[in-house]
Amino acid sequence: MRFAGRAEQVAPFYVMEFARRAAALEAQGHHVVKLSVGEPDFGAPPAVLSALNDAVQQGALPYTNALGLGELRKAISGFYATAHSVEIDPARIAITAGASAALLLLSAALVEPSDEVIVGDPSYPCNRHFLTSFGANVTLVPTTAADRFQLTAELVRNHWTNRTRGLVMATPSNPTGTSIDPGELSAICEFARNQEAWRLVDEIYLNLSDHTRDGEPPQTVLASDPEAIVINSFSKYFGMTGWRLGWCVVPVDMVPVVERLAQNYYICPSTPAQHAALACFHPESLAVCEERRAALGRRRAFVLSRLREIGLHVPVEPDGAFFVYLDISATGLNAWQFCERALDEAHVSLAPGKDFGRSGAHTHVRLSYAASMADLREGLDRLSTFIAHLDAGSLMQI
Ligand SMILES: Cc1ncc(COP(=O)(O)O)c(C=O)c1O
Repeated sequence: MRFAGRAEQVAPFYVMEFARRAAALEAQGHHVVKLSVGEPDFGAPPAVLSALNDAVQQGALPYTNALGLGELRKAISGFYATAHSVEIDPARIAITAGASAALLLLSAALVEPSDEVIVGDPSYPCNRHFLTSFGANVTLVPTTAADRFQLTAELVRNHWTNRTRGLVMATPSNPTGTSIDPGELSAICEFARNQEAWRLVDEIYLNLSDHTRDGEPPQTVLASDPEAIVINSFSKYFGMTGWRLGWCVVPVDMVPVVERLAQNYYICPSTPAQHAALACFHPESLAVCEERRAALGRRRAFVLSRLREIGLHVPVEPDGAFFVYLDISATGLNAWQFCERALDEAHVSLAPGKDFGRSGAHTHVRLSYAASMADLREGLDRLSTFIAHLDAGSLMQI
């Protein structure tokens, strides 16, 4: 069978290759420490699980409006008001099947074939694959440790052409866990706005980032650029990856477009997940999520200190999400070899830089600390022995 060119252009998730090999090792009876997966190890808060139970007991779970339950859109608007002090009209919030479906709708709504769209490198690969599927020419802009592996206004200006129509940023980012400084973000948005280009900001890890010195939560881009397009999700902060529920905030005139696309592409997001997600915004659920954010902060501190002891270089310390982006070039291995050998010899799975772009493809790997403290301890001990044996120039076996 012949498949469409756009399907051929979408690269696989290389980390899945390591997931397959890890599963094979486990089938042979080995314990693999998985530091490759981008999902929290805790599930939804208890009140959400119990709300799901209640929703299911009601029996019929019909389709909802394509943009989601009005009550949930209001609850998210309330969350922006209390957590971020910004007023967002619930009518501008579309509930989606994860941030992924929001990206699908927005790419369909915004991209014309041959439009240029600026995306930082490294970055979450699916974002650019959605864009290219709709014909965009993605300009992958290499970023550096000096800029916390994020776009800057200067980089954006330098890569702008008369065909550039928009840009996509994630803050904090996957795979680096680093955020764009709010002043820089607003300068980037101002520049793009002046060029009449759209700004899509992926804030899926926003609520999993550090608070300011004054204890304030990090600010959404909507505070400085109310016409920016924002995507977010129940997957990470609320620990609901498999529930497939997210949202986007769009300018008023884009709402009917997104609604029409959602109606056609998937009718509506999951009904039981939406009913249950209402309980995410109860004070007891938010307290659980905040405790988990703090727990991730403790895991991060532990991981960074062990990596320092082991001698694995972290060019920029993360300020959010649950990722550390390691420069492994001093080991003499390339990133792919490093991940292969860490898995085969130490039974620790990591994600190779190749998954996130071109600039760190051979020199960087992503470690996810969304694993239990016990797994993190074990995984880092194994990496320590692995590195020591690499230095000694011999192979190790666990
Ligand atoms: C930066 C980023 N954006 C979007 C997504 C998609 O999330 P979901 O579809 O589960 O909401 C992910 C998932 O890992 C991500 O890391």
